[in-house]
Amino acid sequence: MTGVPPDLRPWAEVDLDAIAHNLGAVAALVRPAQVLAVVKADGYGHGAVAVARAAEAAGAAMLGTATVAEGLFLRRAGIRAPILVLGPAHGEEEAALAAELMVTAFDEAGLRGAGAAARRRGAPARVHLKVDTGMTRLGFPPEGATKAADLAAGLGLFVDGVFTHLAAAEDDPAFTHQQLDRFAPAAEAVRARFPRAVRHAAATAALMQHPETRLDLVRLGLGLYGLLPAPHLAAGSALRPAMTLWAKVAQVRQVAAGTTVGYGRTFRAASPIWIATVTIGYGDGYPRALSNRGQMVIEGRRYPVVGRVNMEYVTLDVGSGDRSEAAPGDPVMVFGPGLPVDEVAEGASTISYEILTGIAPRVRRVYRVGDRVVGVRDLVTAEGVAALHPPAGVPRA
Ligand SMILES: Cc1ncc(COP(=O)(O)O)c(C=O)c1O
Repeated sequence: MTGVPPDLRPWAEVDLDAIAHNLGAVAALVRPAQVLAVVKADGYGHGAVAVARAAEAAGAAMLGTATVAEGLFLRRAGIRAPILVLGPAHGEEEAALAAELMVTAFDEAGLRGAGAAARRRGAPARVHLKVDTGMTRLGFPPEGATKAADLAAGLGLFVDGVFTHLAAAEDDPAFTHQQLDRFAPAAEAVRARFPRAVRHAAATAALMQHPETRLDLVRLGLGLYGLLPAPHLAAGSALRPAMTLWAKVAQVRQVAAGTTVGYGRTFRAASPIWIATVTIGYGDGYPRALSNRGQMVIEGRRYPVVGRVNMEYVTLDVGSGDRSEAAPGDPVMVFGPGLPVDEVAEGASTISYEILTGIAPRVRRVYRVGDRVVGVRDLVTAEGVAALHPPAGVPRA
């Protein structure tokens, strides 16, 4: 463990070598297809700027955000790589264009908005057309692809890509192939007008187990962070989880049999035990659903969460010996090596995506390359607001 802060607040340790490794491993797997690194939702909670830099340095061809604002944030941090906004850009097309962001058009209004922005700015707008082949979320219907491409051409847009999103790539190969079969003619219709448009469909689950979905480009999200959308994909995976989440023990006390712990008194000690109060709660992103269910690790040993998860604290049963097994100031691993985030997510009846993206802004991100801490993103410190952006010192990995 490196970069343990002196204070008692929680922190997320992010291994930028792991990000680079994961990008490289997927790039090698999917070649000659290229890799778009998905850094939306603050880089799945890891910190979009640091992840984008690491992914770009490791060979990502493109970055993907969900919103124009996320793209602008990366540009303001100095990221020059091609960026595709995967979600709606309606009403923000001009800002996107000014920052050289590619936008997704999934309806006529989006195309017209991009066309109008391009006219106003006197600059070409680059768009990817999204086709809905079965996700039933966003996209032109496959049979509308020709019309969309014609309209784009009429508006003077450059269609750089055409894509779809797969709804059940991890566990429904038949439906995945149906989606691909619907996508192929739609993509060809677009490429009849825009021959250089790249085709993309696969996110992590599909690229791992259905090579035929890789096409020209894959959109790597969860896998970039070293995790997998479903446990059966783990076989043979060389990915390395990038994040370890930590908190600290704030106080330890021995309680007598019959003592209740926390809000609602949902836990009662059956015998004398030691209770450690740990500095992370649902306000930091640790799910309240793990009240009386979760586990955390201190010095390699797991201890159960007892009582309710609070906004800032959880309480652990750290044993019943004569002396406490934990002391104030001890680092507590919330997830990481030996306690996967997938296990934490499962205990809270959710998925790793939600746990990662739910880690609050006030939780510091500590960036590591090898054994060196290369940057810290901390919104609030004892001195006040420390940095609204990651420090410029976070180097290219
Ligand atoms: C359009 C699109 N592509 C790719 C991804 C990345 O998916 P994953 O994290 O499963 O790789 C997402 C994530 O939700 C997405 O919305």
